[in-house]
Amino acid sequence: MNATEWKEKLSAIRDSFSVSITNRSAENPEALELRFLGRKGELALLLRDLKDIPLEERKALGALGNSAKAEMEARLSELKAAAGRAAGPAASGIDLTLPGLPCPKGSLHPLTITMNRLAEGFLKLGFTMSDGPLVEDDYHNFEALNFPPFHPARDMQDTFYVDAKDAAGKDMLLRTHTSPVQIRSMEKQEPPIRVFHTGRVFRSEAVDASHSFTFHQIEGLYVDKGVSMADLKWTVDTFMKDLFGTGVKTRFNPSYFPFVEPGAEVDMSCIFCKSGAGRCHVCKGTGWLEMMGAGLVHPNVLKACRYDPAKWSGFAFGAGIERFAMLLFGIHDMRMLYENDLRVLKQVQ
Ligand code: PHE
Repeated sequence: MNATEWKEKLSAIRDSFSVSITNRSAENPEALELRFLGRKGELALLLRDLKDIPLEERKALGALGNSAKAEMEARLSELKAAAGRAAGPAASGIDLTLPGLPCPKGSLHPLTITMNRLAEGFLKLGFTMSDGPLVEDDYHNFEALNFPPFHPARDMQDTFYVDAKDAAGKDMLLRTHTSPVQIRSMEKQEPPIRVFHTGRVFRSEAVDASHSFTFHQIEGLYVDKGVSMADLKWTVDTFMKDLFGTGVKTRFNPSYFPFVEPGAEVDMSCIFCKSGAGRCHVCKGTGWLEMMGAGLVHPNVLKACRYDPAKWSGFAFGAGIERFAMLLFGIHDMRMLYENDLRVLKQVQ
């Protein structure tokens, strides 16, 4: 074969490739590739024939052959891509039957869930949500709540003081209970008032299964004409039954808090052993669980907020939210609520 014949042959191959690739239905890209570019394909054989052509012409022909090859390869890969698109994801290597990438769903923290449930209960009873700061002044945390300066009742709550002074020149502190929100709510509004608040409190206490230097409380306050202990008992009992089921009972024991008179601790019948018989580790065999402090608002507290105690009376209560969360979700160690262990958190939805 001489150089002219070789060139003619190359152009014949190019033409026939062009016709075949335009007439796609006749052959698929793989068959075309094999026919023209394969080891024994038409172009490959022609390139092999170059060896019979004199060296001085061979170089130029080789370049022609290689550019024809590159052009064919480019058109074939275009065709393959188009075929892939037309045939859909399966042909392009995407397997739609494979499971998707996991998209884990988050959830609310058990304490948040508990606070929301408590809030729902009190909203239903006509209470409005109220708020107050975590860094408090001495007046709202103690004095207006009838804890005079140096009164021993201040020792009931070991306090974290902050390196800052309030308007009266006293040390600011991390609130030791949610009761200052009672004062802040009464300062803002005339009676009648029916508010609750949930939030964080701080006490200088060692951490163990049932204590922490920070925890959460719910506070409730109702002041109106003629509010009595009977209203407090009904409200607390109704709320507990709403949360833990109609089977639970409540009872009041006398207790002391400077800002209520009379004051009480409220117990709920044990939701685990339901009797008190036996060795229930939750109620320690007593049949009762201590759930909150409560009482009728002390006249000194009403006076501090410019409510006339001769005209108005009210009740207040306060409870630890961790206790509710532990009972609702069967959590035995309070520390589990702060450790962010997903094995615990994922069980509570
Ligand atoms: N503030 C009290 C405490 O933290 C609880 C309480 C609130 C008691 C309201 C009576 C009335 O111990």
